[in-house]
Amino acid sequence: MALPQRDGFSGRFGVLAAAAGSAVGLGNIWRFPYITGENGGGAFLLIYLFFILAIGIPVMLSEFVIGRRSQSNALGSFKKLSPGSSWWLIGLMGIIAAFVILSFYSTVSGWTLEYIFQAAASGFDGKNMEQLNTEFVAFTSGSFRPVFWQIIFMALTAVVVLAGVQKGIEKYTKILMPALLILIIIICIRSLSLPGAKAGLEFLFVPDFDKITGQSILLALGQAAFSLSIGMGALITYGSYIRKDTPLLGTAVQVATVDTLIAVLSGVMIFPALFAMGESPAGGPGLVFVTLPKIFQSMPGGYFFSIAFFILLSVAALTSTISVLEVVVAYMKEELKMSRLKATLIGGISITAIGVLCTLSFGPLKDFTIFGKTVFDLMNYMSANIFLTFGALFIVIYTGWKLGKSNFINEINEGGKVHPLIATILVFIIKFIAPIAVGAVAIGAFFIEGLM
Ligand code: PHE
Repeated sequence: MALPQRDGFSGRFGVLAAAAGSAVGLGNIWRFPYITGENGGGAFLLIYLFFILAIGIPVMLSEFVIGRRSQSNALGSFKKLSPGSSWWLIGLMGIIAAFVILSFYSTVSGWTLEYIFQAAASGFDGKNMEQLNTEFVAFTSGSFRPVFWQIIFMALTAVVVLAGVQKGIEKYTKILMPALLILIIIICIRSLSLPGAKAGLEFLFVPDFDKITGQSILLALGQAAFSLSIGMGALITYGSYIRKDTPLLGTAVQVATVDTLIAVLSGVMIFPALFAMGESPAGGPGLVFVTLPKIFQSMPGGYFFSIAFFILLSVAALTSTISVLEVVVAYMKEELKMSRLKATLIGGISITAIGVLCTLSFGPLKDFTIFGKTVFDLMNYMSANIFLTFGALFIVIYTGWKLGKSNFINEINEGGKVHPLIATILVFIIKFIAPIAVGAVAIGAFFIEGLM
């Protein structure tokens, strides 16, 4: 009798589509430009790239290994691989991180839906930056509309998660992700051809290390983790759906490459236009929502491009939110023995409840602060810089020191041999370099500058 098959990806391309779908999202197009803008540009980008390479890929690979080896969810995998120990706490932290991330992420995802309609209604026409900004603030500081869109977005996420990971994701990402990439390139060309664009390129690519502080190094690390979807078990969960004949290292490198390409291109899309219009790069979370409409106005066919762009941005956000909710649902389903329906409803509704607080923190709750941050800012800050950073730290410590070298190497050799020298280097990074680097950045920022 054949064993019942665990729901999983159909093959190499399916995994790539799903993992890249998780990685590419608002993190690249919304968060990366504004964090880079606030932290000095070029030097920040260099540090970010270093973290993607030296920390991001090894952590991503570790997550795939843990997931595929255990065939289990973010928390259950540690219980299965190391029974009787406390390592499952890493998984618990990941599940809490899922709540933190999705609460504020769904706020911004909701904004992208609103902007599809604004684009369709030609709501950007003839407005200058100041007016676009005023409208962004007016919309986000309202109550009904942003909350309405957030709930719609969470409902969409729940519908896809309910259908099961494999069926929903693969089909759409295959077409929509390349479409998004092409559209971004077109917008980059327009942005670069504006008079005065050069200053924006210099801002993004010419490093000025005077602008770097311990805090901005932590932000670069947090952003790298956030953008790659590492540090909270999303990729452990997806890893558990990966077939044995899929090469893990190749997949991790490809996902990181696509993700980084889209982040850098998003910078090329935003900064030249921004400098051409004489605006400050430190515009905060509204940056892309104000700058992009301005670029669309000056593009032939801008009306259609703007609608298409915000649709694709919503889809990119959706393929990310799915992976976050799936962490919670897979856990509840497998560990708490709930049905997929029940798990999705409980997870989705409780996250939405916290999410509404994030959304309202631009309006009615804007004076309600914790550690001097609004609920949205706090969730946004904590997700990347505390949860994912420490999550990544514990995951490499687990992989390097507990899972063991031979388990790790056996697993990465399934589905395609990894050269022994490369395997040794990876183990060395996971055991020593990554934990020391992540630990030093996190602790340095914490003790020297105060984490918040
Ligand atoms: N990587 C996603 C993005 O860049 C966000 C995300 C973070 C998704 C963590 C899953 C886990 O938009």
